[in-house]
This record gives sequence, C-alpha cells and structure tokens, in this order.
Amino acid sequence: MFAENVLTPADLIWPLFIANGAEVEPISSLPGVSRWPLAQIADRAREAKAAGIPCLALFPNTPRDLRSDDGREALNPDNLMCRAIRTIKDAVPDIGLLTDVALDPYTSHGHDGLVDATGHVLNDPTKDVLVGQALVQAEAGSDIIAPSDMMDGRVGAIRNALEGGGHVDVQIMAYSAKYASAFYGPFRDAVDTRGLLKGDKKGYQMSPANAEEALREVALDLAEGADSVMVKPGLPYLDIVRLVKERFEVPVFAYQVSGEYAMIEHAVSAGAADRDAMVIETLMAFKRAGASGVLTYHALHAARLLAG
Ligand code: PBG
Repeated sequence: MFAENVLTPADLIWPLFIANGAEVEPISSLPGVSRWPLAQIADRAREAKAAGIPCLALFPNTPRDLRSDDGREALNPDNLMCRAIRTIKDAVPDIGLLTDVALDPYTSHGHDGLVDATGHVLNDPTKDVLVGQALVQAEAGSDIIAPSDMMDGRVGAIRNALEGGGHVDVQIMAYSAKYASAFYGPFRDAVDTRGLLKGDKKGYQMSPANAEEALREVALDLAEGADSVMVKPGLPYLDIVRLVKERFEVPVFAYQVSGEYAMIEHAVSAGAADRDAMVIETLMAFKRAGASGVLTYHALHAARLLAG
C-alpha cells in the first residue's frame, strides 16, 4: 500500500544476440546468455511476450568475413539484423523491436564509426552511414531505432531520414549518456569485437567523471528529435538517471549492461548472493531512480519472477 514504486514485466527490455550459424552459441563471459540462431529467435520472442515483456533489443554477431573498414554490411538490407527483425515480426508482430544503430558489429576495427589512418573516429562521415543503417532497419520493421554510437548530430539526421522515408511512426531511443565504461567487456565477446577493437572509445563515449555533460548530451538529442533517452551503464550511473529524469520529463531508460549482469552471475556462482533477490532489487533501484524501463539480460528471468 505504501510502495512508492512498482516493477512489472512491462518495465523490461530484453537484449538478444543473434548468431549467424544454425547453432545456439553460449557466451562464456555472460553465463546463461547465448547467441540465438535465426531459426530460434521467434521462440525467444514468444517467450518474452508470454512473460509480459514488451520489447526486445537486437544485436547481431556479424561473421568476420563480412566486417570491413567501412562497416558496409550495416547497410545491407539482408544483413543478420534485418533478417532477425523480419523473422520476429513475421512470427510475433506485436512485440516491440529496438534495434541498435552503431557500426561496431560491422567494422574490422571494432569502433562504432569510421576511422582515419591514425585510428581517430570521424564523426560526420560516420553519421551518413548511421542514417543508412537506420533506414534499412526501419524498412525491415524496427519499431525503435537506438543509436548507441555517440556521434554528434546523428539523431537529427536519422529523424529527417525516417520522416523522408515515410517511417514517421518509428521512434528513436537515443543512447544519450553512454559512458566509456569497463562494464562492456562481455558484450564485446558476444558481438565478437573484443579482439578487434583498436584503442578505446573515449573519443566519443563519455568520461565517468562527468554528469553535466550528460545533461547537455540529452538536451541535444531531444532537440534533434529523440523520443526517449538512455543512460548506460546502469547501476553505477543511477545518479545520472535521476538527474536526467528531473531535468527533462521524458522517458529515460537505463541499460544494466553485460558487466553488471556478469557481476551478479559470478557472485551467485561464488555462493555470495541470492540471484532472484539481487535481480529484483537492482531492477527496482532503476525504477526508484526514475527510469521508465530497463534493458537487462535478466529480463526473462525477472519477468517470470514478477509473475510469481
Ligand atoms: C556498442 C554497444 C556496446 C554496448 C551496446 N552497444 C558496447 C560498446 O560501446 O563497446 C554494451 C552493452 C553491454 O555491455 O551490455 N555500440
């Protein structure tokens, strides 16, 4: 009766990795999480829907031979991401799909954008490719475009292109405050970029020292047409979720990222913690901080727990 916040399956977005082959591929640094072949992806969508999860977030593991310096596979309307979108939408039309826009699963150097000869990421040339990537995803049936690349100006460019292409109902959830974080390691295994990444992403992702900068990033993305914004990683940045929510009164999502998931799972395997209690407590913390929803690899488990 006195609870100030509630957590329900409708608060959860479930990130799914897509395998190129025919096998389920477990990811050793993300215990309990696998890459799913296209033939099984619709089953995951059905499970999510049955558990009350409204939306999936998709990440492809592009085969190495399709990765290139310019990440051109991102623009292929038949790439793994687009095939996954169509497969899910054909089977489970009313589950939401949030699709990642960034070049890292497609480049041979593992960066989210195009790089010059010195390895420096080039903002404006990258923006043009991201626009094309967003368009092929929208055409395949994505509901929400989620640019995670942190280039400046890409939200406005994508919004214009979506309007011009007739995709007026496709939303944009901007990864606005995405920090250059040590918590992304297992994700980079999942999309096979850990071994490829040259250098780091500090030239375009945010410094963990900064909070005001997060507010400027959010303000820019909203002005450019973002429908909602994201803070990432999650638990170490709950203060940012709260600041953004208080300042902007828009839906704010948080991403409980791969390293956070791994910390919980390893604590559980070490006998140091109770999984169910930790999952629910951490997810409730996001709600208390002001998040409208959370991307979490524990989404299916949490939704089933919440349903009793
Ligand atoms: C890259 C991207 C990353 C994540 C989502 N999109 C990693 C990175 O920036 O290197 C991380 C998600 C996670 O760790 O769970 N576009």
